[in-house]
Amino acid sequence: MSSTPFAEPAKILITGAEGQIGRALVRLMAGDQDFVVIALSKRNLDITQPRQISDRLAEYLPDYVVNCAGFNRVDPAERDPERAFAVNAGGVEQLAVLCSELSIPLLHLSSDYVFDGHYASGYSETDEAAPLDVYGASKWQGEEAIRRQLPNHIILRVSWIFSESGTNFLLKTLEQARSEDTIRAVDDRRGCPTSAEDVARVLMAVLKQLINGAEAWGTYHYCGAEITTRYGFSEAILAAARQYEELKATSLVPVSSREMPEAAERPASSVLKCKKLLNTFGIRQRPWRSELQRLIRQLYERQGLEQPQARRVGARDGNQIT
Ligand SMILES: NC(=O)c1ccc[n+]([C@@H]2O[C@H](COP(=O)([O-])OP(=O)(O)OC[C@H]3O[C@@H](n4cnc5c(N)ncnc54)[C@H](OP(=O)(O)O)[C@@H]3O)[C@@H](O)[C@H]2O)c1
Repeated sequence: MSSTPFAEPAKILITGAEGQIGRALVRLMAGDQDFVVIALSKRNLDITQPRQISDRLAEYLPDYVVNCAGFNRVDPAERDPERAFAVNAGGVEQLAVLCSELSIPLLHLSSDYVFDGHYASGYSETDEAAPLDVYGASKWQGEEAIRRQLPNHIILRVSWIFSESGTNFLLKTLEQARSEDTIRAVDDRRGCPTSAEDVARVLMAVLKQLINGAEAWGTYHYCGAEITTRYGFSEAILAAARQYEELKATSLVPVSSREMPEAAERPASSVLKCKKLLNTFGIRQRPWRSELQRLIRQLYERQGLEQPQARRVGARDGNQIT
C-alpha cells in the first residue's frame, strides 16, 4: 500500500495515455525522478476489457494507477449511450475492482458535467450530483463505482480542458477563426478553462503527497482560476492568436445556448470550487489566461497553425507509449 514512502521511484501506470491529460502527464512525469511511468494507450489497455486490465496490472505491478481514459465526447455520447457507459462507468468499475484486489490506489478524472449547473457561484465536492446528459451520467456512475469498490482513490473533477492536441475548444476556435469571417460563441454558460498541463501538475503534486504518506483519499475539484463564459474564452483565444497572425475571423458574436442547439444539454454553470484541494494538498488554482498565452506561443513557435487539429505533440515525443 502507499502509506510508506518509496525508496525507489513510484511506478505509475497511466491509462488513456494518448488523450489530452494523459499526454501532459506522461510528458511531465518523464522529467521527474520520483516517477517511473508506464503509459498505456487504448490500443494496449482498453478499460472495457477486464482481462486486459488484469493482465497489465499483473505485468507491471504499479504502485498507483492514474485513469486518464474516458469517452469524452459529449454529443456523441447522446447517440451512443452504451459506449459512454461502457467506458466511463463499466470500464472504470472494473479498473477499481481489479485495483482493489491488488491494493493499488487509483487516481481518476471526472467532470463538472456531473452537476446540473444551477449554482452560478459554483460547486463544491459535497454538492449533489444531478447530471443533465448521458456523458455526465456515465461519469457520475463511474465515480460512484470507485467509491463502492476502492477506498484508496482520488477522484479529481476538472472542467473545460484545453491543450495543444486532441479535440478541444481552443483548437476548434482557432480552426474556425482561420476559415470563417464570423464566430459565434455562447455567452450564457459559465465555467473555468483548465489546461491539461495544469491538471497533470495537480495529479503529480497529489501523487507526491500520497507517496509521502498523506491519507487524503476522496473527491476533489480543480479548474483554472477566473470564471468566464465560452464567449469570454473565445475572446481571449482570438486576442492571443492575433499576436501572431492575422485571422480571417473579424467578428465574434455572443449568442445564447438556445441559439446554438446541441445534442446534449450542458450545465449553465460549470464552475468548480477548489478550496478542498488547497486546504488538503496546498494546491492553488493557476490562472488559465497565462496557460493560454503559453500554449498559443508554443503552437506558433513549433510549427505555426497550419492545421492545429492535425498536430500531434505529446507523449510519443521522448516518452514511450506502449
Ligand atoms: N476534456 C474536457 O474538457 C474534460 C472535462 C472534464 C473532465 N474530463 C475528463 O478527463 C479525462 C481525460 O480527458 P481528456 O480531455 O484527456 O480526454 P481525451 O483527450 O478524449 O482522452 C481520453 C483518452 O481515453 C482513450 N479511451 C477512450 N476509450 C478508452 C477505453 N475503452 N480504454 C482506454 N482508453 C480509452 C481515448 O482514446 P480514443 O481517443 O482513441 O478514443 C483518449 O486517448 C476523462 O475522464 C474526461 O471525462 C475532461
